[in-house]
Amino acid sequence: MTAHKYHIVTFGCQMNKADSERMAGVLEDMGYQLTEESEEADLILYNTCSIRDNAEQKVYSYLGRQAKRKRENPNLTLVVAGCVAQQEGEALLRRVPELDLVMGPQHVNRLGDLLSQVFNGNQVAATEEAYIEEDITTPRRNSTVSAWVNVIYGCNENCTYCIVPSVRGREQSRTPEVIRKEIEGLASQGYKEITLLGQNIDAYGRDLPAGGIGAGVGGKITFTDLLYYVHDVEGIDRIRYATSHPRYFSSRLIKACAELPKVCEHFHIPFQSGDNDILKAMARGYTHERYRRIIDDIRAVMPDAAITADAIVAFPGETEEQFERTVQLVNDIGFDLVNTAAYSPRPGTPAAVWENQLSEEIKSDRLQRLNHAVNQNAALRSQRYAGRIEEIMIESTNHKDPRQVMGRTRTNRIAFAENTTGKLLTELIGQTVSIKITEVRPFSLTGVIC
Ligand code: SAH
Ligand code: SF4
Ligand code: F3S
Repeated sequence: MTAHKYHIVTFGCQMNKADSERMAGVLEDMGYQLTEESEEADLILYNTCSIRDNAEQKVYSYLGRQAKRKRENPNLTLVVAGCVAQQEGEALLRRVPELDLVMGPQHVNRLGDLLSQVFNGNQVAATEEAYIEEDITTPRRNSTVSAWVNVIYGCNENCTYCIVPSVRGREQSRTPEVIRKEIEGLASQGYKEITLLGQNIDAYGRDLPAGGIGAGVGGKITFTDLLYYVHDVEGIDRIRYATSHPRYFSSRLIKACAELPKVCEHFHIPFQSGDNDILKAMARGYTHERYRRIIDDIRAVMPDAAITADAIVAFPGETEEQFERTVQLVNDIGFDLVNTAAYSPRPGTPAAVWENQLSEEIKSDRLQRLNHAVNQNAALRSQRYAGRIEEIMIESTNHKDPRQVMGRTRTNRIAFAENTTGKLLTELIGQTVSIKITEVRPFSLTGVIC
């Protein structure tokens, strides 16, 4: 008998990507093999995102197709995981009765158990609030160079637009010991770069007992302490992390990043809006002045650091002047990249029921104008790389031109370079090389290996 095959489609953020790798690990332990073709699969898993309505709707259109296939092939197993699964729970089973399993993000590590219930003939919904146990299976990671490491799950913030706290649950930090152990394991498998993950990574440690490893005497460990604690793992060359929240961002963290050679000079700090009243209505807990000070503090010690962010336009009640303050902030800071989005009302969030919602026309107009500013700034920021020598870590070939390798600068700019080393790509992957930049584009660079 040929092995059973699974197919995973992942929507949403890095947390979901990391979760998908863990679920793929569980499936491979069960004897399943990966297929890129959904038609070949015996098990299809959608790991879903609910951050905006269009992300959610995309899932339903995929599901509609698979539900039809399932009616022709009852042996197909259909799983919906992730944030839409958590948001909808059993309602999703009613909406798409062909589904076998609906599971929230806190149940990722239980995929094996949940599937045995399915194979015993049950339709299962696992969306109750749960403590996330340490995973005993090995994730099936997509990269052989760079790996995600969860450090804190969930989010305790109450941003009035955001679905994440209700779908990802309360904050839960992993202990510094298990995080370090995972990183050591990755290093011994040849990984060179890690990205530490948390929705609000600055909150790391708040829920752990005081006086543990890595913490100051009698105090609680913080994210900055964690960086010092894991920094010396041999074999790991680069450490990245996301996402920072301006409310909690500390000068100690800036110092750690400047001081620790493996921590890359890239700060992803969403600001969401450049207007103080909108920030207040969003319940973000900072002003644009505070945000600007953070960036000034970073640039005072790391002038070349990349600064990236997220922003929302057309939040309920946002006036033209308030929107312009967001554009102004983008222009003043000079971001390397800003992920922009038009406000989308999410079920169960406070702002969704406010009466001052803006029209679709205003949303798309402001989004377009902000994107224009973002692209101009990115292009401007890229200019500083022209003619420079940059260190890139090689991750793969350039999919559009196999003669070129693809890597990233420490500041997370994608860079391509012709492979003039005479070495095979397999020998180059994971290596850090210097390239001289010959061409700059807003979001990527081209160079020659020195
Ligand atoms: N924890 C991170 C971001 C998490 S969600 C933070 O606090 O910054 C990723 C991004 O999606 C957010 O930064 C925000 O810009 C966007 N987003 C979240 N909810 C949204 C909504 N209802 N409508 C539009 N964009 C939203
Ligand atoms: Fe959402 Fe705010 Fe939490 Fe970020 S900090 S995940 S925007 S609630
Ligand atoms: Fe989406 Fe869930 Fe991430 S809603 S952005 S996949 S936390």
